[in-house]
Amino acid sequence: MRSVCVLTSGGDSQGMNAALRGVARASLSAGVKVFAVWDGYKGLVEGVMSELSWLDCSNMVAAGGTKYGTARCAQFRTEEGRRAAVVNLVKANAGALVVIGGDGSLTGASILASEWDDHVQKAVANGELPQDFAAAAELHVVGLVGSIDNDMFGTHFTIGCVSALHRIVEAVDAIRATAASHSRTFVVEVMGRNCGWLALMAGLATQADFVFIPESPPSPCTSTSVPTVSTTTGELLESWAATLVAKLARVEGKRWSVVIVSEGAHDCKMEPITAARIKEVIEAELGHDTRITKLGHVQRGGKPAAFDRYMSTNLGIAAFDALAGYAAAGPPAPEPVYFGCSDASVYPVALHPAVAATRNVHDLVAAGKYDDAMVA
Ligand code: F6P
Repeated sequence: MRSVCVLTSGGDSQGMNAALRGVARASLSAGVKVFAVWDGYKGLVEGVMSELSWLDCSNMVAAGGTKYGTARCAQFRTEEGRRAAVVNLVKANAGALVVIGGDGSLTGASILASEWDDHVQKAVANGELPQDFAAAAELHVVGLVGSIDNDMFGTHFTIGCVSALHRIVEAVDAIRATAASHSRTFVVEVMGRNCGWLALMAGLATQADFVFIPESPPSPCTSTSVPTVSTTTGELLESWAATLVAKLARVEGKRWSVVIVSEGAHDCKMEPITAARIKEVIEAELGHDTRITKLGHVQRGGKPAAFDRYMSTNLGIAAFDALAGYAAAGPPAPEPVYFGCSDASVYPVALHPAVAATRNVHDLVAAGKYDDAMVA
């Protein structure tokens, strides 16, 4: 089997190192050369890669971040950039590429696979590749979903989401202590881009008093079941604000509250529901002393949880096994293969990452989990 290139791309996530190590150690065990590409697609475009030895992959599963770096690469979005990447892969005698990243990165992998033959032919025509190199050039692509957001349909978990959730829960537990001491309300903003999985799960795990997620703007715009008039201004409250106020006010004598807001939350008119807007409403309507905590990149950094270490290792090994199988079977599959995972197994995911959606969260909402999160 020709050599394997592996890269991490997009936002780093806890467990990317374990996944890369899984690919590398499985390759080395099978006697196959493996290269880590530095800084994601940037390293592929610029031809910056390091051949990995057994020891290069030691002592890395417990580390946060991604050892070989990541970047959001504008050049790879251009045809010329992708052709440079193809030329570098052919020159490295790569027969396989493993991309560990989110929906954008895996969509990039898909595009690269579909354009491969065209780029090789053009590179030969332009004199960027010698003819004899190009004749043997073929590439199998495998994608592993790495993102704290858990925003990919087709997998229960993306690499890093469980660790990020642990981090959020730890932070919210700490915030509850100070909120209770001072009889304050805290609005905690969590990441997730357009996906509310982190916010919803954290809400359930910490018994937050209210959760805002993009998938389910609270109460339909037409709802009449909540008071709609501001007690301070006499003006109509927006429905999300009225719902929030009714929920927070419903338990008499409650001295403090925690509201979790996903960074992608929005109202019925698609206007962002920000921590600042929420704070304003709570202060004006309920008179709570309110503080905002934005957890930010602390959610992405730090050590991976045990789950992310072992599942990512399994994913890395599955990626290599798939590549070895394709190499034995002959010409490359026209589409890359993606792997997802549940708590017990890894499995090929049939869907194209371009349809990455927040289906997981919609399923949870449909199963009543969003309501469960509001019964604290
Ligand atoms: O996709 C992962 C993620 O952490 C999102 O939750 C967040 O919106 C985004 O990346 C932040 O990106 P950056 O690190 O480029 O600011």
